[in-house]
Amino acid sequence: MTNQTKQVVINSPLDMHLHFREGAMAQTVIPLTSHAFAGGVIMPNLVPVVDNLERLTGYLQEIKTNVGQDVFEPYMTVFFKNYTYQELEQLKPYILGVKLYPAGVTTNSENGVAALNHAEATIKYLEELEIPLLVHGETHGFVMDREKLFLPIFEHLAQKFPQLKIIMEHITTAEAISLLDRYENIYATVTLHHLIITLDDLAGGLLRPHLFCKPIPKRPEDRAALLDAAIKAHPKLMFGSDSAPHPLDKKEACGCAAGIFTAPIALQALVELFDRHQAIANLQAFVSDHAQRIYGIQPPQKSVTLVATPFKVPSMYGTVTPMFANQEISWSIARIDTAISCSL
Ligand code: DOR
Ligand code: ZN
Repeated sequence: MTNQTKQVVINSPLDMHLHFREGAMAQTVIPLTSHAFAGGVIMPNLVPVVDNLERLTGYLQEIKTNVGQDVFEPYMTVFFKNYTYQELEQLKPYILGVKLYPAGVTTNSENGVAALNHAEATIKYLEELEIPLLVHGETHGFVMDREKLFLPIFEHLAQKFPQLKIIMEHITTAEAISLLDRYENIYATVTLHHLIITLDDLAGGLLRPHLFCKPIPKRPEDRAALLDAAIKAHPKLMFGSDSAPHPLDKKEACGCAAGIFTAPIALQALVELFDRHQAIANLQAFVSDHAQRIYGIQPPQKSVTLVATPFKVPSMYGTVTPMFANQEISWSIARIDTAISCSL
C-alpha cells in the first residue's frame, strides 16, 4: 500500500466458504463473487443436496456458465453422507473437501449427520484419501452455546483421525480460536460479518433480519478474539464469507431464513476493516495465502486493486439485500488484472 494514493493490491483473493445456490439466484450472485475473487469454496446444501458425481458435475457446469469470462476457480464440496471408499475415490478429483452438517442445524441440512459414531467409517476413508473434512460445528443446544458445545467433537475427531485435515467452518467464539493452537490438524474459516457484528447488532435494538445467520453472532469478547486472530494473520485461519443469499421475502418474513449476503461487498469491507486496524499488510495472508498453503491449491492469477474511494452499496442485487445496503464502504475495487486480460 502507498500512503499517498491509498491503494491496496490483493493477489488471487479466495473466499473459502460460500453459497452460490442455483437457477435465477445463482445467475445473480455468482458473477458478484467471480468478478472480485480468484476462487471460492462452494457449499453443497442445495435441494436436493450435492452428494454424488452426477449432481456435482451438473452443478459445476451451471457455475461455470455463470462465471462466464471471469477468471475464477470454483472449489467444489459434496454433502457428507456415508460414502463408500470407491465413491470418494471417484469424487476426489472434483472436490476440495466434504462438508459435514449435523442434521437440522441450518438451511437444508435435514439430511445431515444425526449420529457421529455412524459417520466414522466414512471419516476414516477421508483421512486415508487425504480429503479435507469441512464441518458446520454446532449442536442443538442453547443457541448462544451451540458452537462451544460442539468443540469437544472437534477434539475427538482431531485425536481419532490425526492425518485428517479438519476445517471448523465460520467460527464465532474465542474458544474455537484456542483449538487452532492445540491441534495440528484443525484449521478454521471466519466470515466478514462475525468479525464485525455481535448479537447486539442483530437483536439488541430493532431486529435486523439481514444480519440473522447461523451460527448466531456472539459476544463482544468473541468478536474481539476472532478479529485479533484475523488481523494478526493467524496461520490456521482463512477467510470464508459464508455469503448466503436469500430472497427478500424469505428474510423480511415471519420465520426469517438464516444467512447474510456479503458477496458483493466482502473484499471492500475487509480492506476497510484491516485498514482501520492498521493491518493491511496481513490481509493477503488472511484472504489467500493461508488457504493456498492449508489446502495445497494454486488459484488462478488475478490481482485486485482497491482504492480508498467510497463505494455506495446498492439496496438490492436482484431479489437479495446485501450487508451494508444503502451505506458507504470507504474502499472500492478499481481494477482487476489477470494473466490474460486487464479490466477496469
Ligand atoms: O446463515 C447461514 N446460512 N448459515 C449456514 O450455515 C447456512 C447458510 C445458508 O445456506 O443459507
Ligand atoms: Zn455456509
